[in-house]
Amino acid sequence: MPSFIFHTYGCQMNVRESEAAAKALLDAGFTAAPDEASADIIIVNSCSVRQKAEDKALGKLGLLCATKRERPNRVVGLMGCMAQRLGKEVFKHIPTLDFSIGTRCADRVAPAVMAAIHGEHTLAMSDLHAQPDAPTGHVTEGAFSAFVTILLGCNRRCTYCIVPDVRGDEWSRPARDILKEIEGLAAAGIQEVTLLGQSIMNYGLRTPAFDENEPPSPGGYTIPFPRLLEAVAAIPGIKRIRFTSGHPSGVTDELIRLYKEEPKLCHHLHLPVQSGSTTVLSRMRRGYTRTQYLEALARLRQAAPDIAITTDVIVGFPGETEADFEETRTLMEAAQFDNAFIFKYSPRPGTVSATWEDDVSEEEKSRRNHVLLDDQDARGRALNASLLGSTQTVLAEGPSLRNASRWSGRTSTNKIVIFKPYDGLQVGDSVTVKIGRVAPQTLYAEDCID
Ligand code: 5AD
Ligand code: SF4
Repeated sequence: MPSFIFHTYGCQMNVRESEAAAKALLDAGFTAAPDEASADIIIVNSCSVRQKAEDKALGKLGLLCATKRERPNRVVGLMGCMAQRLGKEVFKHIPTLDFSIGTRCADRVAPAVMAAIHGEHTLAMSDLHAQPDAPTGHVTEGAFSAFVTILLGCNRRCTYCIVPDVRGDEWSRPARDILKEIEGLAAAGIQEVTLLGQSIMNYGLRTPAFDENEPPSPGGYTIPFPRLLEAVAAIPGIKRIRFTSGHPSGVTDELIRLYKEEPKLCHHLHLPVQSGSTTVLSRMRRGYTRTQYLEALARLRQAAPDIAITTDVIVGFPGETEADFEETRTLMEAAQFDNAFIFKYSPRPGTVSATWEDDVSEEEKSRRNHVLLDDQDARGRALNASLLGSTQTVLAEGPSLRNASRWSGRTSTNKIVIFKPYDGLQVGDSVTVKIGRVAPQTLYAEDCID
């Protein structure tokens, strides 16, 4: 049977959808290729969030399709956000592409591969206002952790963001389906789940697109997000729960209570701030001020003093002045982020901010980007250094990729720790180690400092 490989760009939602499509291909009898050179079928799962992400995927597809000259039977397909955004236009860019499948319909990938083998092109877009079928679960043999999508789409409509246009209206999967999926994952050996949604704390809220004539989730009911977390925590075999991405408005008393009382809820939250300037935040339509963001952080840290907070920041948003940028700098210092992803603003077609002048020059965006990266680098080093000599508890995840005689695990705060395994150590076991050395992305146990 032909073999396949995925190249996945973008966020975890895409990773999850590539996994679902891969599962369907395996079920249909295809095999996973060990590398691109040997693959008969190559599928690019694309991201549209910045122009650069799209350019990368298009470049990759162009190169892959060029290999079809020597390998006419090779199948090259596209899925994900860029496929959804470009529709049939993608075939103008790359006429020899075999298929293009939008978001929310990873189940169409396997049929498209089969059609391509018979020489047929497929173009499939999803209806972004429809309630999609719940994606099915998938476990890699021996895996410790799995992603579970609980909320599709996004209704927030931040002025810079293309996500609502490519992933559609917010739709909460019925809680019953989510819990059943996680029970299945736990039965297959998964011990950690990461719940996914663009604006995940909106899970279970009624959304305008669906609340006129119908309940929010036909076929089952949703429950408020903190209740869902409790229900997941009650599933036997699940030891850890992570979720992403957060928004300050979701840092409710109920969630704070869970951070205090639910030991399975990991002490790491990705809470994108985007800017430290209230003026810019309001033009981004983020729905919070600088002060409200910092207050949410303070509440989280009061409930869970060791909580790690990571964030996303955009530099060079239209109208961002030097003073606005300085506010972002000072906010990042005040927030003491454990990690931060810094992006240069990229106007996206169809968004509100794309109608405004992109008035911060490319050089200035790059400069601001570097300033924040340098600041964060120093902050990350200092935070890591403060962990030297500390005692950390990790759940063992398996042999380290670099050195199989060592194992790696993560703390509840999502730090990777390398340690020496003891006889009989099993995936998921809780191991307590003293930190003997720190590197920017990794902590090493005392017995692994060489
Ligand atoms: N330009 C630059 N960065 C963007 N992001 C979203 N839209 C844009 C854009 N138009 C960033 C945000 C978001 C992350 C996934 O990508 O910081 O949190
Ligand atoms: Fe990229 Fe956003 Fe699509 Fe994720 S949802 S792949 S970040 S455009």
